[in-house]
Amino acid sequence: MRLAGKSALITGAARGIGSAFAKAYAAEGAKVAIADISIDRARSAAAYIGKAAIAVQMDVTDQASIDAAVATTVDAFGQIDILINNAAIFSAAPIDEIMRADYARVFDVNVAGTLFTLQAVAKHMIDRGIKGRVINMASQAGRRGESLVAVYCASKAAVISLTQSAGLNLIQHGINVNAIAPGVVDGEHWDGVDAFFAKYEGKSPGQKKREVGEAVPYGRMGTPDDLTGMAVFLASDDASYVVAQTYNVDGGNWMS
Ligand SMILES: NC(=O)c1ccc[n+]([C@@H]2O[C@H](COP(=O)([O-])OP(=O)(O)OC[C@H]3O[C@@H](n4cnc5c(N)ncnc54)[C@H](O)[C@@H]3O)[C@@H](O)[C@H]2O)c1
Repeated sequence: MRLAGKSALITGAARGIGSAFAKAYAAEGAKVAIADISIDRARSAAAYIGKAAIAVQMDVTDQASIDAAVATTVDAFGQIDILINNAAIFSAAPIDEIMRADYARVFDVNVAGTLFTLQAVAKHMIDRGIKGRVINMASQAGRRGESLVAVYCASKAAVISLTQSAGLNLIQHGINVNAIAPGVVDGEHWDGVDAFFAKYEGKSPGQKKREVGEAVPYGRMGTPDDLTGMAVFLASDDASYVVAQTYNVDGGNWMS
């Protein structure tokens, strides 16, 4: 019960990695707000956890929605001790096919969504003197570019950079900001990624997934549960001296 008495707001937690984080946090004694643009799925995810969870409608691209999600979580739990900025979207295209609207949408969700949710929760923590934790979801895609994935890679590089700046700025208030950089994690997100590569690389459905899984030094794709240990650690008292870092949890794909 390493998070007993804590409350967490997790964005994009209706499915995939965010949903696994919510379950793991509840199992460690935390209360969790499952915030997502898809409220129906957020409700199902919260119902699965039970009394420790609430579902919150949230669009991280909309400031009023961010503020409302923070207020709803504070009303329900009294305060927010932990934020996981997990909501993100993916896109892929060769450079000569990238659409400005696609770029704007990806940066709005992945970068502005992360920054302004972090800002709203940090203000709450500073006002209340809460020595809180923020965990941003980066990616191995933020460590280097990929031929067909320029916009998403750039957005995740920005998340790593924001983690460094926010981590350095907020530690004076006792707020630790860190990030997790997963590698390839199976789930609905990767079903979409696989479809992009099928389109652009002429692969059959499922082929890209198999290839990336076989290329992981550990020997397979990750699962959301492979990431929960790091997410619990970064939110726990054991991580109080960890500041502005991005941890790779990727089966050995990347070293930094
Ligand atoms: N799956 C992977 O292989 C992988 C690898 C590296 C990093 N990541 C990162 O981990 C995080 C979770 O990934 P996942 O695989 O669970 O993704 P996912 O696509 O399964 O889940 C993302 C969730 O975010 C929600 N969402 C999308 N736009 C939103 C918005 N505007 N406001 C609020 N919620 C919104 C979606 O409804 C969805 O529930 C993301 O930040 C992703 O970039 C994933």
